[in-house]
Amino acid sequence: MYNSKIIGLGKYVPEHVVTNDDLSKMMDTNDAWIQERTGIKERRWIKEGTDDTSAVMGAKASKIAIERSGLSNDDIDFIVFATMTPDYYFPGCGVQIQELLGLKNIGAIDIRNQCSGFIYAISVADQFIKTGMYKNILVVGAEYHSNGLDKTTRGRGVTVIFGDGAGACVLSREEDTSKGILSTHLHSEGKYADKLIVESPSIKHWVPQILEAKEEDLSYFPYMDGTFVFKHAVVRFSEVIMEGLMKNGLNKDDIDMLIPHQANLRIAQFIQKKFALSDDQVFNNIQKYGNTTAASVIIALTEAWEEGKIKSGDNVVLAAFGSGFTWGSAIVKW
Ligand code: UT7
Repeated sequence: MYNSKIIGLGKYVPEHVVTNDDLSKMMDTNDAWIQERTGIKERRWIKEGTDDTSAVMGAKASKIAIERSGLSNDDIDFIVFATMTPDYYFPGCGVQIQELLGLKNIGAIDIRNQCSGFIYAISVADQFIKTGMYKNILVVGAEYHSNGLDKTTRGRGVTVIFGDGAGACVLSREEDTSKGILSTHLHSEGKYADKLIVESPSIKHWVPQILEAKEEDLSYFPYMDGTFVFKHAVVRFSEVIMEGLMKNGLNKDDIDMLIPHQANLRIAQFIQKKFALSDDQVFNNIQKYGNTTAASVIIALTEAWEEGKIKSGDNVVLAAFGSGFTWGSAIVKW
């Protein structure tokens, strides 16, 4: 058995910055409400007329991650792509970036686990590496939310939260099993699927329902019972972080860096307090990017690394919670 180790990280966010004040021109909201409830100051939204999509942004982040890994495209053995906003109903974004990056005819799968998508994705990739089946895997998280949001006052409870962006990493075989990804922990609870959901389009709401959809049909916009999700998030985040630490004989004092999914700064602060972590031990960038679901953990991990906040030997904890419900963690010895 092998471990897998992150050897290259990259991110890409669209240039177009949308501030809270910009949103207040589209809907009845304001900077004070958004910052107080979520910590978000601005987010990036793809500007109409650019070529960016989840697959295209994923490819841009991947290019950087592969370059930084020191590998060449031909060394990549497999692609795992996490998104809840794929370019097409099918095929998935994984196969698109095989083409966009000009990779060999390697396998590619898409992961559909929303905010927990990146944790699920590295867990899947990790298993392929552990068994020896593949040596180098490109793992991507990318989201293009902005085109699917209700940008009126009706949608303000959800729309102000989400942003577009992508992150990627190259996972590679590590012979020393005391290093790299030590363990991953995945969970789901489908009974709460309807608490955070985009119902349409789906095979249940297909043509002719799409063609006949009226403006008041909200099933095409994300729905979230925010308070309900919040309450579950704080419990599940804590549980799954503890589960990961215990599995590795670690305790909360051993955490060098916690990278929580950037759902809401208040959730991250709650976890920080619960685990008695200092500001240096938790990385947040939701202030700049909002919630980019499957891209959020990998964008944050990339930025933390770029800023020199993660060093060799650190215990890095990644954790996420979101629609499904799904949640998960990964314990990484950097
Ligand atoms: O990433 C996946 C997981 N997602 C999460 O973990 C998100 C979890 N939930 C949350 O982060 C929070 O629930 C929200 C930030 C989404 C909402 O915060 P909240 O404190 O739960 O607010 P609320 O939905 O209870 O709304 C409070 C009030 C309402 O007005 P009334 O009924 O009290 O008069 C809303 O209509 O705030 C109003 N409101 C807004 N006001 C200004 C809702 N959205 C907005 C807005 N601007 N954007």
